[in-house]
Amino acid sequence: MSEKIYDVPPEWATRAYLDDHGYKTKYEASVRDPETFWGEEGKRIDWFEPYTKVKNTSFAPGAVSIKWFEDGVTNVAWNCIDRHLDTRGDQVAIIWEGDDPSESRHITYKELHDEVCRFANVLRNRNVEKGDRVTIYMPMIPEAAYAMLACARLGAIHSVVFGGFSPDSIAGRIVDCGSRVIITADEGLRGGRKVPLKANVDAAIAKVPADTVDHVIVVRRTGGAVDMTPGRDVWYDEAAALVTHECPATPMNAEDPLFILYTSGSTGSPKGVLHTTGGYLVFASMTHQYVFDYHEGDVYWCTADIGWVTGHSYIVYGPLANGATTVMFEGVPSYPSNGRFWEVIDKHKVNIFYTAPTAIRALMQSGDEPVKKTSRASLRLLGSVGEPINPEAWEWYHRVVGEERCPVVDTWWQTETGGILITPLPGATRLKPGSATRPFFGVIPQVVDAEGNIQEGACEGNLVIADSWPGQMRTVYGDHERFMQTYFSTYPNKYFTGDGCRRDADGYYWITGRVDDVINVSGHRMGTAEVESALVAHPKVSEAAVVGYPHDIKGQGIYAYVTLMSGVEPTEELRKELVTWVRREIGPIASPDLLQFAPSLPKTRSGKIMRRILRKIAEDEFGNLGDTSTLADPTVVDDLISHRQNKK
Ligand code: WT7
Repeated sequence: MSEKIYDVPPEWATRAYLDDHGYKTKYEASVRDPETFWGEEGKRIDWFEPYTKVKNTSFAPGAVSIKWFEDGVTNVAWNCIDRHLDTRGDQVAIIWEGDDPSESRHITYKELHDEVCRFANVLRNRNVEKGDRVTIYMPMIPEAAYAMLACARLGAIHSVVFGGFSPDSIAGRIVDCGSRVIITADEGLRGGRKVPLKANVDAAIAKVPADTVDHVIVVRRTGGAVDMTPGRDVWYDEAAALVTHECPATPMNAEDPLFILYTSGSTGSPKGVLHTTGGYLVFASMTHQYVFDYHEGDVYWCTADIGWVTGHSYIVYGPLANGATTVMFEGVPSYPSNGRFWEVIDKHKVNIFYTAPTAIRALMQSGDEPVKKTSRASLRLLGSVGEPINPEAWEWYHRVVGEERCPVVDTWWQTETGGILITPLPGATRLKPGSATRPFFGVIPQVVDAEGNIQEGACEGNLVIADSWPGQMRTVYGDHERFMQTYFSTYPNKYFTGDGCRRDADGYYWITGRVDDVINVSGHRMGTAEVESALVAHPKVSEAAVVGYPHDIKGQGIYAYVTLMSGVEPTEELRKELVTWVRREIGPIASPDLLQFAPSLPKTRSGKIMRRILRKIAEDEFGNLGDTSTLADPTVVDDLISHRQNKK
């Protein structure tokens, strides 16, 4: 197999924090003596009370416990704002770029301080205290960041719900964490279209037990008409006019919760991934600095939404902890034209740009012209995150967008990991398109076979992490048992990522995708079980099985096999109705791309659906179905093959 390798550009070898030797030395130190390594690194943030203990973690079966800097006291908002005021109060903290290219705002650290304090006071006036949960359902506007930081300032735990989720999904998340306060906006604006955020919140509240939600705080974004429930709903600007811009930062223990973020797994409802204060911030800050080789004065842009962990760690917490200028973009890559990303890079002189493979693939389809029309002279580094990047997309990103002068950092991590775990460092790592390359400091990846045997050298298998790192999730909110079961029971004493991977002879990691029943659609994680339960909730559906299949733009598409109730006719209309139904139940990101009516599903004699076969059919690999002899009725397969839906 011929593999392309890109050397570190000479100018990078001199400007970057670390070269290859530096990486190796530091990596070895980090895994040889994590206590000393992180003990030093923890000092990158300010502590109100210094820690004396660094690492206290155990992956032991039935007793998983993860604590970092456990007796330290700090506050995340203090570290992201207040400690910068003396040195960079007038520096821009957030550049906000609106959906409409004529709208943008620059917010300095001083202004950020005042806005966050005001927001915190509005929450405080509604009895929000340390440990309370607050749900945030917002568009990509600065107030979303203010709201997160205001929670952090008070010690309240935020749960950001992506603005594309349905009322049902919001309701489930409100109930799971018991949040009495919701922060939203009248409407969102994306690609010129309005998103009815407040109306969705109203519909969500109608689905939760009465008296669950006490307050809804509504930020005015579009000025669109919304219903306001007296006594419960308040306009943010009206409430903010009544409070001051001073609010003390609550002292927080390093292990006090910072946020909950719901994410899909292979079974059950989405899990509330819980991240805590000290270790999370140290890890977000350190990875942001080294992976992006962030230097003072750089303009940094991550295109994620704050509804995902990437937005938490690499739009808000990591960059602001480092005193960076972080760009926040409300819109979409295709509006008003396919050149939007590159135009914004020129407009704000962006130096570091971090986006997802699905966006790269989509933009690649509109050719080189929209890119070449722009200068991109400010760009120095490109990043990728969310799913495996195919070498063609990597090469295009590198050659056309970065004009071969910008290294591409393909960063592998997860909601659960809090920050980047496997990644190149731009001054240190020779790049191979499609490989996330090597572990970050303190991270010990291992490849295991199905039985958990550790594989050596060049190999392929399942990816586990052998020991804790400070950004690791601490538990599933309210369900530690589920946390241990999901991540630590497959391979005892190891954190199981759910990903498969290959390691080559140079020790580089190539993530091959999920090995569980999770699919990755445009970098968004979906549990197949969630889509299935939405489908079977429809009165005409008796059974459903959902699998992923390769999709040119999205990486994976959603393929649904649906068995109807007896007597129901499979029509084109019903097919559309079911797709719309899933969209309404979960959100647009869960809409099946292809939906096939299946008179019956392939099952073993004990009644278990054989997903392996369904996956092969969806992948168009009919010749390679494997052993079908255990099927209760092997003829089912022929029917499925002859009615396979065609790709769009
Ligand atoms: C899953 C985690 C990481 C924040 C955004 C997604 C896949 C993520 C990569 C990458 C190959 C990747 C994995 C992982 N993934 N980054 N660079 N190369 N795969 O977070 O929603 O928790 O999803 O995304 O399969 O397990 P998430």
